Amino acid sequence: MTTHLPQTTGRQLGRRSWAEPWKIKMVEPLRMTTPGERERALAAAGYNTFLLRSEDVYIDLLTDSGTSAMSDRQWAALMLGDEAYAGSRNFFELQEAVRAVYGYRHVVPVHQGRGAEHLISQIAISPGQLVPGNMYFTTTRAHQERAGGVFVDVIIDEAHDPASEHPFKGDVDLGKLAALIEREGAGRIAYVSLAGTVNMAGGQPVSMACARGLRRLADRHGLRVFLDATRMVENAFFIKEREDGYADKTVAEILREFCSYTDGAWMSAKKDSLVNIGGWLALNDEALFEEARGLVVVFEGLHTYGGLAGRDMAAMAAGIAESVDEDHIRARIGQVRYLADLLGAAGVPIVRPVGGHAVFLDARRFYPHLPQDAFPAQTLAAELYLDSGIRGMERGIVSAGRDPVTGDHHRPSLELTRLAIPRRVYTQAHMDIVAEAVEAVHARRGEAKGLAMTYEPRHLRFFQARFERL
Ligand code: F0G
Repeated sequence: MTTHLPQTTGRQLGRRSWAEPWKIKMVEPLRMTTPGERERALAAAGYNTFLLRSEDVYIDLLTDSGTSAMSDRQWAALMLGDEAYAGSRNFFELQEAVRAVYGYRHVVPVHQGRGAEHLISQIAISPGQLVPGNMYFTTTRAHQERAGGVFVDVIIDEAHDPASEHPFKGDVDLGKLAALIEREGAGRIAYVSLAGTVNMAGGQPVSMACARGLRRLADRHGLRVFLDATRMVENAFFIKEREDGYADKTVAEILREFCSYTDGAWMSAKKDSLVNIGGWLALNDEALFEEARGLVVVFEGLHTYGGLAGRDMAAMAAGIAESVDEDHIRARIGQVRYLADLLGAAGVPIVRPVGGHAVFLDARRFYPHLPQDAFPAQTLAAELYLDSGIRGMERGIVSAGRDPVTGDHHRPSLELTRLAIPRRVYTQAHMDIVAEAVEAVHARRGEAKGLAMTYEPRHLRFFQARFERL
């Protein structure tokens, strides 16, 4: 199959067009709203898109998490759920799928990614230890901090620059990490927290060279490397496209090699693995696995279901296999790129290079007149919803939260509004509508006044914070 990634439409380039590698068997009607309805809904939601009712949303780009469309095979797998409390057949299917595709030895199912983040943080961090990683993620860092750890960002500097065209902006800066180990001593470091396609940097991949180098550095100091594998299939696709020596390897082979440089992984299967709920923790180390298997019983459920129904594990096992299909992953990233190309051509400032799961609007350049304290990215998400009922998410100062010690705002250099694309849910026509809406909001960018925070929750404030117009 010769599928071209859409740089722009095939017609303009004089090549064959590109299409989704699936057809639609079941539809879910979308509801459109009037400007007045949206004004009322947004005010009731405190200008936070997380607090909108999904019925008031037209095209939902809040997240790619748990929002994918399952295949006919996955739906069929649901009917084969073995709902035994212990030893469900579907657990063994899941275990086999994780071993085959990711290559880890031991598997503990959990209800979603943060369940696994909780377990790994509790068993691998001692209070006061440092956890270096390639940029923080909200729930990951929250669990590391709750276990007494202190997250230290060791991503390359380019990751903080939305305009840098570096092909692997997710890379760990091995020099920064080596200096940290030198300064603090390996004993103060819990483990290295490595994430594929770094979410908060704009879905930016990590190179195989980085993973390999990281393994060598970690081995020299007896450190473990644990991987956030949530969007690692997308990461593997970027390696195939961009890194020398990988063009002729399959995405599945690249994924296996990458994981082989790590000691274990946590997974939100709600992303790459195309399910609405589910996740796992995988570990190679016997002793750590023993601890995880003991702890999961306290927080999630027995070690053969981890807070899931048997049918959820069956759908996850099927989704893992589908996720590494070459046509699937090419089209998935192709759709994200299609939207990005439309926006780029219209002069809308976006994070470059375009990542795997979302297009990130650069709210600093979108609203240069708004200071970060007026929450430009939150404002942009609100304005986009008002324009057309399209829902995105703030990924800037609100998401970054506060320093647990000083209480000050973290002030990330990236102030972004994320338009995350659910897998296999929307068509290119929906992407055209989204691009037109963003362009309309961009055309009247000078009128935006910003927001003030009126309610700030203590944990992960972006989910439930409320705002009012300035
Ligand atoms: N790691 C990454 C990189 C994630 O993006 C997420 C979730 C998690 C871990 C936690 O997984 O939600 O299953 O508990 N990200 C979602 C998002 C919420 O919208 O980016 P979870």
